[in-house]
Amino acid sequence: MCGIVGYTGKRQAYPIVIDGLKKLEYRGYDSAGIALQQDDQLTLYKKAGKVKDLEHFIGERSTDGLTAIGHTRWATHGEPSDHNAHPHLSQSGQLAMIHNGIIENYAQLKSELEKEGYRFKSETDSEVLLNFIDDIRLKNQCGLEEAIRIALKRVTGAYVILLIDESQPQTIFAARKGSPLVIGIGADEHFLGSDASPMLAYTKEVVYINDYELAIVRPDELVLKNLGNERITPYVQKLDLELAAIEKGGYDHFMLKEIFEQPLTIADSFRGRLDAAEARIVLSGIDAIEEKLLNARRIIIVACGTSWHAGLVAEYVIEELCRINVEVEYASEFRYRNPVISSDDVIVAISQSGETADTLVALERAKEQGATIFGVVNVVGSSISRIAHAGCYTHAGPEIGVASTKAYTAQLTVLMLIALKLAKAKGTITPERFKELCQELDAIPNKVQQVLKDQVERIKAIAEKYKDARSMLYLGRGYNFPTALEGALKLKEISYIHAEGYPAAEMKHGPIALVDEDLPVVFVASRDTYHEKIVSNMQEIKARKGKVLAVVTEGDEITPNIADEVIWVPQTDELIAPLLTVVPLQLLSYYIGVYRGLDVDRPRNLAKSVTVE
Ligand code: M6R
Repeated sequence: MCGIVGYTGKRQAYPIVIDGLKKLEYRGYDSAGIALQQDDQLTLYKKAGKVKDLEHFIGERSTDGLTAIGHTRWATHGEPSDHNAHPHLSQSGQLAMIHNGIIENYAQLKSELEKEGYRFKSETDSEVLLNFIDDIRLKNQCGLEEAIRIALKRVTGAYVILLIDESQPQTIFAARKGSPLVIGIGADEHFLGSDASPMLAYTKEVVYINDYELAIVRPDELVLKNLGNERITPYVQKLDLELAAIEKGGYDHFMLKEIFEQPLTIADSFRGRLDAAEARIVLSGIDAIEEKLLNARRIIIVACGTSWHAGLVAEYVIEELCRINVEVEYASEFRYRNPVISSDDVIVAISQSGETADTLVALERAKEQGATIFGVVNVVGSSISRIAHAGCYTHAGPEIGVASTKAYTAQLTVLMLIALKLAKAKGTITPERFKELCQELDAIPNKVQQVLKDQVERIKAIAEKYKDARSMLYLGRGYNFPTALEGALKLKEISYIHAEGYPAAEMKHGPIALVDEDLPVVFVASRDTYHEKIVSNMQEIKARKGKVLAVVTEGDEITPNIADEVIWVPQTDELIAPLLTVVPLQLLSYYIGVYRGLDVDRPRNLAKSVTVE
């Protein structure tokens, strides 16, 4: 979703901000813009389309200046267009602002301003906020800092805002509530970003800004205050991230790179945590609340999208191994209904970005009601990781492709470690079974590697053959049911082919009506307790002339005689299988998207980090 970049220092700001915007392209956007402080005036350039369209538009025009703010917009209020793109210029012409988030009471503020004679050039809530701030500044004859503080106390919604004032050279004002903001510290220069990627090439020292904080950023100083005008000491953290981690490294797309990284990222997720030889799991992240988890009345998993699918796998595994009641909730539903939550409940939030607005608010609500919050998060220092009482990072590294791949398998790995550790502490698993599962988990990186080595050509051929399908059905049972959902979501996102995931047995209750010779049905059918049953489901599809594409375990002699296409995965325990069976489905979506000529890293309409509800 909207990306925010800022720079003030001794270098030319334009190339730094433009490059920063490119680093944030993965978040998803539809227009881009930049505002520069040039001597004592503000210069704005903005354009619908991509950052390269903006560069093309700017061409030879002047880009001099040591301070600039830049924005990639993901449309919420008003279509993607030049005039709705950020930055916006206030009616006085003295302030420029970029905004990520949604101002919920903008209509009321807008009508107040219109009564006073303000006219708006865009349909955005952001331009309203900017003029609201400017109006306070002009009426109260106060400084911009004071005006921002007063305005933000009246605003409801979520925001990160960056403002520059033509009369205050080399100063950027920034504030946040609910959307992410990182400030990078250099020598006599500062960088601002929605995440750390725009500043990685320049500094490793960052400050994560918290809700209701206001930053006044100059080349040689960072002043942090709360909305009550009290100074706060910035907490400087060191980034453990290399530039190479956010580059393609020779792959055609980030998505492909990230799929191929999985043997490593899964191992990274359990590195230092899992000792398979000694059958030991060390997860210091849960120590603080282990008793709470063991005695929890319920574990409520809250997440969105792919992370929600990881939650479903966790439900199956935790209930099986730990005999603790688990519920999995869509964060967007959970936050708005009136769920029964008690202090005996532990809420587990799963999120790659750690910034998903629905998940974040759901957690805030649950925390207010006394629940303990545990985060399974990838992005270090993200908002969810900071509001959780405890948590475990997934250590997948930066995921740039919009479609979640390595972040998902890292989430599964950590959730399985948690389930195993709790089961052992609770005494609901035998030492033999515990050791067996530790060893199976430990072996997964090699097995994923094997799939990547042996199955890619086969999957490519299948992708080419089925790339023009109008619709696809994904079926699985038990531990592989969430994999079917995830496979369908990946296909939708990357190829724009309609796809649905279903529990295989549920097919007879409706979706079977869709089956004909044009419907490819993907079965996630690795060898497990339900194997015979899923084979019967395949027969039912074949009997209706559907095409069966099956992910099966090596050595399976029955399924290949039924299925039209077969993809093989190595044998593993059924509890661990979701880590393996999802990989061919990621590849299938990727290659179908590529054969259809689509931008697989940045699918239309999607945002990597969904920071508005
Ligand atoms: O950052 P999060 O894990 O909280 O994001 C949740 C979803 O937005 C995300 O998983 C989304 O569904 C992905 N595009 C899936 O590939």
